[in-house]
Amino acid sequence: MSETRVPAERKYQAEIEALIASDSGARPPGWAMTPQSVIRYVLGSDKPVGGVPITAKYIGDRAIVEVAVATLASDRALLLAGEPGTAKSWLSEHLTAAISGTSALIVQGTSGTSEEHIKYGWNYALLLAEGPSEKALVASPILRAMREGKIARFEEITRTGQEVQDALISILSEKQIAIPELGSIVGAQRGFNILATANTRDRGVNEMSAALKRRFNFVVIPVVSDLEQEIRIVKKREEELRSDYQVGAPAPEELSRMLVTMFQELRAGITKDGKTKVKATGAVLSTAEAISVLFQSGILAQSFGSGAVSPNDLARALVGAVAKEGADDLKAVREYFETVAKGRAGAWKEFSAAARIAFRTTA
Ligand SMILES: Nc1ncnc2c1ncn2[C@@H]1O[C@H](COP(=O)(O)OP(=O)(O)OP(=O)(O)O)[C@@H](O)[C@H]1O
Ligand SMILES: [Mg+2]
Repeated sequence: MSETRVPAERKYQAEIEALIASDSGARPPGWAMTPQSVIRYVLGSDKPVGGVPITAKYIGDRAIVEVAVATLASDRALLLAGEPGTAKSWLSEHLTAAISGTSALIVQGTSGTSEEHIKYGWNYALLLAEGPSEKALVASPILRAMREGKIARFEEITRTGQEVQDALISILSEKQIAIPELGSIVGAQRGFNILATANTRDRGVNEMSAALKRRFNFVVIPVVSDLEQEIRIVKKREEELRSDYQVGAPAPEELSRMLVTMFQELRAGITKDGKTKVKATGAVLSTAEAISVLFQSGILAQSFGSGAVSPNDLARALVGAVAKEGADDLKAVREYFETVAKGRAGAWKEFSAAARIAFRTTA
């Protein structure tokens, strides 16, 4: 048996170890490596380090990652905010893996998240049998991060209720959690911090209380608008998924280019040459969504198609991404094919013809 999803600190263990071994500068207290090495780990390095090639994890603006890393070394917590599918969680996983050696201290924010999830709970069988004790205490990932001087991740923080956000304010300002039942207080070891993510399409980041916002530094992760860069990201990540899941066929360059071009045009509401307006979709056609459409088209091609990704496989995979927000989006994309794609040369023609069939069956 093998795991489908290995955490970053294990998957890239060799890179992390090589970076730590080569590190010479000053490390912030509690950090496994220097901020410079964290940047090298996240953005990749031209030259191997200690004989180990350092691959790029996040493809994007160095300045953004630098501010994120600097924030994590400060007294403020970090909030990565942005549109869905812009690699906020991805960055959070890699930053914590590099800095703390683990990306597993994680709280998933939902409307059901309670104070217990961010402070501590109890093993009730033990609690009833023996009364409150260290053994009966179930520490939250945040409490463990405090004890171990590590960074805790808080995903989708804006989905949590007011009580949880309020409790977090006290954790972030006091840097300690009191456990009155044991008469003890756990103070954060150096290296502790919180790295949160929030999706700007969800319940608003703006709804966070001013007091909580003040304890975070906001770093906005942008949507990629450069065509070549997004193609690079989509191709690279799709290839990695194919290798992780050991399924699927590669897509010809022309098709990945076509898919990303289409996503960018639908996102922007206008064609790349600025000549034709197109109706925008309500569904978020994010980079992550493009990766998943391309990956799925590869599985379709391998399992039910010719073995190599064709425009037909791509069109079939696309429907699932577009259908999420309902009939209006399907209409908008159908219109895109009629007014924009059909008139273009090469694979676009075949793509439009295949889309006409694929989208008809869902209407
Ligand atoms: N600039 C990028 N560099 C590398 N990978 C990227 C980039 N943009 C998107 N991705 C890929 O997109 C996928 C989804 O990213 P992720 O889940 O982190 O998005 P998110 O911003 O957390 O979205 P959500 O708000 O929906 O939670 C990941 O596989 C990630 O590798
Ligand atoms: Mg996320």
